[in-house]
Amino acid sequence: MKIRNILVAALAVVALTGCSQKEDYTWVKNGIDRATSQLLWTAEEIGETGKIPRSTWAGYDEQMLERQLNREFATFKDSLRKKAAPEMMGKRRLATVYDWTSGFFPGSLWYAYEFTGREDVKAAAEKFTNLLLPVSHYTKTHDLGFMINCSYGNALRLAPCDTIPEVIVRTADNLCGRFDKEIGCIRSWDFGEWNFPVIIDNMMNLDLLFSASKLSGNPYYAEVAKIHANTTMKHHFREDMTSYHVVSYNPDGTVERKQTHQGQSDDSAWARGQAWGVYGYAACYRETGDEAYLAQAVKIADMIMSRVTTEDAIPYWDYDAPESEETPRDASAAAVTACALLEMSTMVEDGEKYFAYAEKILKSLSSDAYLAAEGTNEGFVLMHSTGSLPHGSEIDVPLNYADYYYLEALQRYMNLVGITYAEL
Ligand code: GLY
Repeated sequence: MKIRNILVAALAVVALTGCSQKEDYTWVKNGIDRATSQLLWTAEEIGETGKIPRSTWAGYDEQMLERQLNREFATFKDSLRKKAAPEMMGKRRLATVYDWTSGFFPGSLWYAYEFTGREDVKAAAEKFTNLLLPVSHYTKTHDLGFMINCSYGNALRLAPCDTIPEVIVRTADNLCGRFDKEIGCIRSWDFGEWNFPVIIDNMMNLDLLFSASKLSGNPYYAEVAKIHANTTMKHHFREDMTSYHVVSYNPDGTVERKQTHQGQSDDSAWARGQAWGVYGYAACYRETGDEAYLAQAVKIADMIMSRVTTEDAIPYWDYDAPESEETPRDASAAAVTACALLEMSTMVEDGEKYFAYAEKILKSLSSDAYLAAEGTNEGFVLMHSTGSLPHGSEIDVPLNYADYYYLEALQRYMNLVGITYAEL
């Protein structure tokens, strides 16, 4: 919904009810307060280790995996990650700066600083962002966009300094080093038996390229982003607008294989993959104004809203997983979806439906069912996300990217309704 329409709608409600009762945003303030305190506590505990908090260590129940994957244990046992030592269970899981999730903790601190204006939060954001400087020289993953845009990208927005553009452009050069002209995509992974794997998640790395073009004046980075988005639009989506997780290409650009890696089956709709897709195409429309990207985002968003069957709008880890009490949720997918839908609510005439759905997600995530109490959850903000169920990894745990996109969504929400933390 266009901002002007929100204002007109709000005025109409006031006129009809004859009162100007203030909307209750306690849940927003509560979310920000809890997040800020959890993030600061974590920053203090991590101290000078040079590590980044990623999630918590969790085990898995083999029979539950069999039921969720609808396969016998023998068919997936070799893919399972090693179980954590019993004394590690439930403890904070740390990662190095080369982990794909390294940008999210500094990014969350940046959002907490943006909300509160607190200098201690800003100092922590700067400290953890600076740890990622070596990542701008790294070439072995496509996740450079996540890593550098969420950390340095937010730093540039909130505490600009003249060394940051260089970091972003150098990282973009390295990301473009993974681009194959013939195939028309950026290579995602360097492991596995695929010839040239591209995962839907890679749509999230394109924002860094758009940013590099604006900072450098060189259109090449944005061109690569557009070609990648176009190729992905052609091959990753099924007729029902759900997406494959992995599409691998032959050297001549034909498709080698379409598969899953983290979803229930090759043909299933892995929840976070759907969220990466809608966020990615909404961002491409924001950056290019190309209506084809908006149309794609709209179709994915409508599919998500019709396929997510849970009452609180927080999806199960895969839309095609058997639904029961034991089916793990993925709060991270919900948070990413909320970000995308809030942005889209300003892009289309009937954006109210996206705004309302995103608000519903945010209220669910801000409830005690998902928002951790202060001093719990090993310092993470949200509970109940799923990293990779087929690998027995990070099932029903906090994840630093769920926290990051929750805060980003809160920021987008507050901008749309026109409130600031100071007024709450
Ligand atoms: N990009 C990896 C994931 O979504 O789990």
